[in-house]
Parts: sequence; C-alpha cells; structure tokens
Amino acid sequence: TSSVGFVGWRGMVGSVLMERMQDEGDFASIDPVFFSTSNAGGAAPAFAEGAGALQDAYDLEALKKLPIIVTAQGGDYTKQVHPQLRAAGWDGLWIDAASTLRMNEDSIIVLDPVNRSVIDEGLASGVKDFVGGNCTVSCMLMGLGGLFRNNLVEWGTSMTYQAASGGGARHMRELLTQFGTLNGAVAAELSDPASAILEIDRKVLAAQRGGVDATQFGVPLAGSLIPWIDADLGNGQSKEEWKAGVETNKILGTAAGAAIEPVIMDGLCVRIGAMRSHSQALTLKLREDLSVAEIERIIDADNEWAHVVPNEKQASMDQLTPVAASGTLDIPVGRIRKLEMGPQYISAFTVGDQLLWGAAEPLRRMLKIATG
Ligand code: HSE
Repeated sequence: TSSVGFVGWRGMVGSVLMERMQDEGDFASIDPVFFSTSNAGGAAPAFAEGAGALQDAYDLEALKKLPIIVTAQGGDYTKQVHPQLRAAGWDGLWIDAASTLRMNEDSIIVLDPVNRSVIDEGLASGVKDFVGGNCTVSCMLMGLGGLFRNNLVEWGTSMTYQAASGGGARHMRELLTQFGTLNGAVAAELSDPASAILEIDRKVLAAQRGGVDATQFGVPLAGSLIPWIDADLGNGQSKEEWKAGVETNKILGTAAGAAIEPVIMDGLCVRIGAMRSHSQALTLKLREDLSVAEIERIIDADNEWAHVVPNEKQASMDQLTPVAASGTLDIPVGRIRKLEMGPQYISAFTVGDQLLWGAAEPLRRMLKIATG
C-alpha cells in the first residue's frame, strides 16, 4: 500500500474529497498521512483509523517522505510549497485541486473519463504534477465529452451560470445570509396577501443597495447576478473565460493534425445565486451535420455519468437544474437542438456539481489510478 499525504482535507473541496473516498472505500488501499497548516500534532480525522497525529504542512522533510501528496489547500500553498519540494529533489506525484500549476507544460489536467490516455501517457513519460481542471470546464467536458472526443466540435461558446460554491464556503454562507436579509426586509408584507408587490420590490431593492452584507462577493448576489468571475485579464476577458479555451484543449490533448484538432472555446462567465452546481448554456459549431438523435447517442454513450435529458419543458424543469444535479455525480445534458444559424449549429445546456466533478472527483480518481 502506498503512503499518501493529504493537505487541505478539512476545507470544502477537501471535505467532499474525504467523503467520496470514504464512500468508495479508498482508504483501504492506502496509508494516509494527514497534514495541517495550523494544527500540527492534533489528532488525525476519526474516519482514518490508525493514521498518526497531524503533521506540519510546511515541514518539507515530512512531505518529502511521501510518494504521493494530494492537496486541496489552495493556490497560495501550492505556490509556496511545491517549488520548494521539487527544488529539494522530491519526485513524488503531486495531485492538486488549485489552478496554480494547471497550465504548466509539465503538468496534466486530470479528468480521466475524458482524458485517460493523456494521463496514462503522462505517467509513462514521467509527468509528476496532476491538477484538477476548472470546475466549469470539467463539468462541460463530462457532459459533452463525446462530441469533443470524436473531434466533432469546431468551436463553442459557453455562457455560464456559476454557483456560489465556486467562490468558497464563505460565499455560500453570504448568499444565504443575503436571501435572509431580503426576506426579512419584507416579511410583514409577504405575510399579507393584499400588500402591494411594487412596494415589496422597492424595499428589496433598497435592501440590496443599502443593507446586505456583500463582503465576499463585493456586490449583492441574492436576487441579482454578477457577470464577471475571477481576475480581469485587461483584454476584456475574465480569467474564468480564458480557462475555457486553454483548459479544454489541454485536457483533450488537441493539436493540429492530431486525433482531436484544436477547438475554439470562449464565452461569458456569470455568477448566479445557486449553491453548488454550475450550469452552462452552450452553442457549438459541429464539424459535421449530425442528426439530433445521433448527437444524443454520442453524448449518452461517452461515459456513465453524462445523460441526455429530453428537450421538453417538464423534463428540463425536473432534471436540468442545480437542485436536481447537486450532490450527485450525474451530468445531465439537455436543451439539445439545431439552431437557426444552420445545420451544424446546436444548443445544449448542462449542469454539474461543482464540488464533485468540478473539483474533488477527478482528484480522487487520479489517486486511484496512481495507486493502482
Ligand atoms: N473559478 C470557479 C468559480 C471555481 O469561481 O466558480 C473553481 O474552478
């Protein structure tokens, strides 16, 4: 059994990872060593019976002993510790949720149902850094991977509806607090069916503009949206939007003349008041004029988690929402139809749990691959 160091296992992504590993019995085949940035010497988590005391996550000598380190501690930790470990000659596998190393030439973005061959070739050729992809990109490729993997997509736009969890645990709490504040501002009027809706609306707007705590998001999200996610790259594009193109191509291993040719992906990323599932509306230009039935067959057949939701009202309302997808590994894909632009243009809408396929699950599965 392989020793595996875990850093950042207590945070939100780390906690989801720990839950998934317990559900799948993954701890039976590894010797976990738990690290902490703040509580070295403390007790290891109860679910990992027999694991020793927590070790210091900044102790290079302790980290260096491990053949595999899995971190969900965040980008600042990676930025600080990873180069020190490599400089000290450590050549173990580093499996990371943060974006820091994602676009490095000698790293691989892991999403094995989509790019297992890229991962296997990387392991065989000595790649040591394996990084989870951006949540929106991973969820999009889990849903529509069949079209991409069959080299059927020439270009696509992804217009996103991203959940609060993408910002972090505090962002989720803030969203709920904002909803509560707004509700409280009009509780009396709401309990009176005869109260005037425009008066309610006026009070809600006043609370949004003046009274809600928006420390995390910077502006109110409840009852509104935020059409910008992550850094401003200065060219009109947000960093989240830039990731769609570069990460999609890196995950797929596209190259001119290769089995999958480069795909142009771009769009707008928007934060909405959902809890933990990201949704996205896609427009794809296909390289061929395929029937909708054939497109649906390819999507359904690609992996066991993607499934097509009939492009009908009730099915879309029931199955194609954050409420339906959250807490599951299912990736529903619906609203598939040919657009008026022509026979090669289709729409699609897909939803995925941002903490599962968008973060923890690709790491969990990479660890399984690495430990045989
Ligand atoms: N950047 C994503 C978001 C989360 O803010 O929703 C992680 O990929």
